[in-house]
Amino acid sequence: MGDARHGEEIEIGFSLTRLCSSETDIVMLEIIYHLCAFVQLAKPSAARVHIRQTNDSDILRLIDPLIGSRDGGNVFAGATLPYGMAKAVADVDGENTGCFSTDGSNITGFSALHDSGTGGNPSMGNFPIFPQLCAEDDINTCNFLIEARETPYRIDSVEARPGYFGITMGNDIHADMAVSEHAALFRFDFSRQNASITIETEDGSETGRMKGNGSFLPSFGAGSYMAYFCLDISGGMIRDSGVWFNNRAGTEPKELYVTRGFNLFYIQAGGFIRFQGALSGPILARMGLSFISTEQACQNAEREIPGSDFDFDGLVTSAEDAWRAKLAPISIETGGVSESLQVNFWRAVYRTMISPQNYTGENPHWQSDEPHFDSFYCLWDMWRVQLPFLTIIDPLMMSNMIRSLLDTYKHRGWLPDCMMSTCKGWTQGGSDADNVLVDAYVKNVTGIDWELAYQAIINDAENEPLEWSNLNYIPYLDFDPIGFGTNSRSISRTLEYAYNDFNLATLAKRLGKNTSTQYYARATNWQNLFKPDETSTLTINGTNTTFTGFFQPRYQNGSWAYQDPIACSPLADTFCSLTSNPSKTFESSAWEYMFFVPHVMSKVINLLGGDDAFLQRLDFFHTTGLADISNEPVFLTVYMPHFAGRPGLSSKRVHAWEQGQTS
Ligand SMILES: *[C@@H]1O[C@H](CO)[C@@H](O)[C@H](O)[C@H]1NC(C)=O
Ligand SMILES: *[C@@H]1O[C@H](CO)[C@@H](O)[C@H](O)[C@H]1NC(C)=O
Ligand SMILES: *[C@@H]1O[C@H](CO)[C@@H](O)[C@H](O)[C@H]1NC(C)=O
Ligand SMILES: *[C@@H]1O[C@H](CO)[C@@H](O)[C@H](O)[C@H]1NC(C)=O
Ligand SMILES: *[C@@H]1O[C@H](CO)[C@@H](O)[C@H](O)[C@H]1NC(C)=O
Ligand SMILES: *[C@@H]1O[C@H](CO)[C@@H](O)[C@H](O)[C@H]1NC(C)=O
Ligand SMILES: *[C@@H]1O[C@H](CO)[C@@H](O)[C@H](O)[C@H]1NC(C)=O
Ligand SMILES: *[C@@H]1O[C@H](CO)[C@@H](O)[C@H](O)[C@H]1NC(C)=O
Ligand SMILES: *[C@@H]1O[C@H](CO)[C@@H](O)[C@H](O)[C@H]1NC(C)=O
Repeated sequence: MGDARHGEEIEIGFSLTRLCSSETDIVMLEIIYHLCAFVQLAKPSAARVHIRQTNDSDILRLIDPLIGSRDGGNVFAGATLPYGMAKAVADVDGENTGCFSTDGSNITGFSALHDSGTGGNPSMGNFPIFPQLCAEDDINTCNFLIEARETPYRIDSVEARPGYFGITMGNDIHADMAVSEHAALFRFDFSRQNASITIETEDGSETGRMKGNGSFLPSFGAGSYMAYFCLDISGGMIRDSGVWFNNRAGTEPKELYVTRGFNLFYIQAGGFIRFQGALSGPILARMGLSFISTEQACQNAEREIPGSDFDFDGLVTSAEDAWRAKLAPISIETGGVSESLQVNFWRAVYRTMISPQNYTGENPHWQSDEPHFDSFYCLWDMWRVQLPFLTIIDPLMMSNMIRSLLDTYKHRGWLPDCMMSTCKGWTQGGSDADNVLVDAYVKNVTGIDWELAYQAIINDAENEPLEWSNLNYIPYLDFDPIGFGTNSRSISRTLEYAYNDFNLATLAKRLGKNTSTQYYARATNWQNLFKPDETSTLTINGTNTTFTGFFQPRYQNGSWAYQDPIACSPLADTFCSLTSNPSKTFESSAWEYMFFVPHVMSKVINLLGGDDAFLQRLDFFHTTGLADISNEPVFLTVYMPHFAGRPGLSSKRVHAWEQGQTS
């Protein structure tokens, strides 16, 4: 993923009302980006509940959601249903692009809106709650601010399975969590604590409710989004509740509205609930979520996690069943391969179903009966491997997801390239939705209006959205006073658009359209940037090796410009993204883009001197530090030996990278 704009909250709102179903006061809260709602707890005493172990022969045993939770993996490691909107996990202050990391940093809160596998800044993490014990009776001795409340966790306590996440903080408070589609259930257990405070009983009410909303900026997109929550507590007797603001708290008022202050200064604020000691068991916090309203957040929670004694184990079981059902289409004959290889396989399958997220019923932008999916973060990342895989093992979801893309085209005028937290994202490469649609078409995914799909793709192919002109290649230093886009990525966009045009031609031909010839012709435009005499010489182990023939940028007048083929590769130690001084290749080098002509690799092989020369170049690319295995453009290079008739070498490469990563 690319560099992302900084996500930040814009405003926060709070208010108090009476609880609809009981006499208890309701604190309506609203809080801050990544940190916020706040549950304050007093004296504990209860046994820790154990989640049942999954059956030994169960495939879920082989899924480890923690793989990729540090060293830049940026995965979401917490509890989620397949494509679920609610994603519960601990948020940390260390490597927090995926919000939680096994990097041994500090927990700042627990929250339930997240993305997975993104780059740049953390996404969402809205409305965090935080349990703590306070030293004295005075509420102002509690640590409200993030810097003050953040707490390390015990690294060996982290337990993650499909549908479940548990962790013990350094102060012995144990937290675990489970989810439904649009709600999360957090369980906080203080039983290993020796709390010194005794709080007098004031009343016997057992539930409290906090509601709130907030306006936030997406981490890689335009505009802002509203999110809403509805928090219900069970398991302890409430002593009092109130709001906190800049590390001071009080039981009055019960509502709060916070906005960015003077100089856009962030003020931390939230609400709290204190419980009477001694607790007879864990405290459960049910958080309903919505992008529509607090009412809908409450309804989601009440429908999906009903009653007042929230059934934690039942939720975990339902999630496990949902995951088993999703994984059921796959079975493997292990042939005696190591368990670690199987674990790597199954967690990779699992990861394909974390995002996109199913936001059906939660689209704030238009009314529609069509399914609605979000967290396309971005299609540039997803079209190469994940979505083609899902067209095979989860075609029903793909059909729904594509209907959602087409519904977006109908209502916004464009197929999305990036879309997250209900906001439009920035475009990274070509028109990647085109690739997704046509891949599903050729694999016979049903239930889709292909005439509409054709129109949507033609729109991508023909209409310039304040962007670049077209000379059968994208020129370097274009003169385009009508357009508006950053003058950049001329090589990678030329290549991507050629592939988009090939897909459009494929669909047009099958639908009997008279445009297929024209788009098949445009699909050859990548050749216009191939410079047969461009060389790249690398000195490896004291030996100079020269390769000839690379993609290069061209000016509008047709003459060649220049970008060193190793620029933007790890060897050049530069990462080229959507920056103010952009390169001709997006997030990758001309070396790597030489392997990016997915629709006609045979032609590339010929240009580079035949199968053997092609395989040699590919091998050199993978073994000398040129390949950036952590980023999307490299995904296709791994199986390129297939095109030179050597599929075994593709498998060998996969295993080599796997060993490199697990050793
Ligand atoms: C957010 O919550 C505040 C306080 O309850 C309320 O006044 C405001 O209307 C809410 N905003 C939206 C968009 O629902
Ligand atoms: C964790 O918190 C401690 C104490 O607040 C602080 O010294 C430390 O730097 C934090 N660790 C990280 C990784 O932020
Ligand atoms: C809690 O108190 C008990 C009894 O006083 C004591 O045995 C135990 O060590 C204490 N535990 C902790 C974590 O301090
Ligand atoms: C998406 O969510 C809606 C509403 O919860 C549900 O009815 C639908 O079955 C889900 N779609 C998929 C493909 O899971
Ligand atoms: C799609 O359907 C067509 C027509 O029935 C068939 O020829 C083709 O093999 C199918 N493709 C796939 C990938 O199943
Ligand atoms: C293709 O068909 C459309 C009508 O379906 C027509 O307007 C257009 O002129 C035709 N184009 C060519 C190149 O034949
Ligand atoms: C360079 O030397 C190292 C260490 O001997 C070896 O592992 C590596 O394969 C060599 N690289 C090339 C491209 O020959
Ligand atoms: C490799 O190329 C560099 C730069 O062109 C040159 O200085 C060096 O002598 C060459 N080394 C060998 C072993 O040929
Ligand atoms: C083409 O344009 C580039 C950039 O303006 C310029 O450097 C080059 O000399 C031009 N080539 C010709 C043949 O005019």
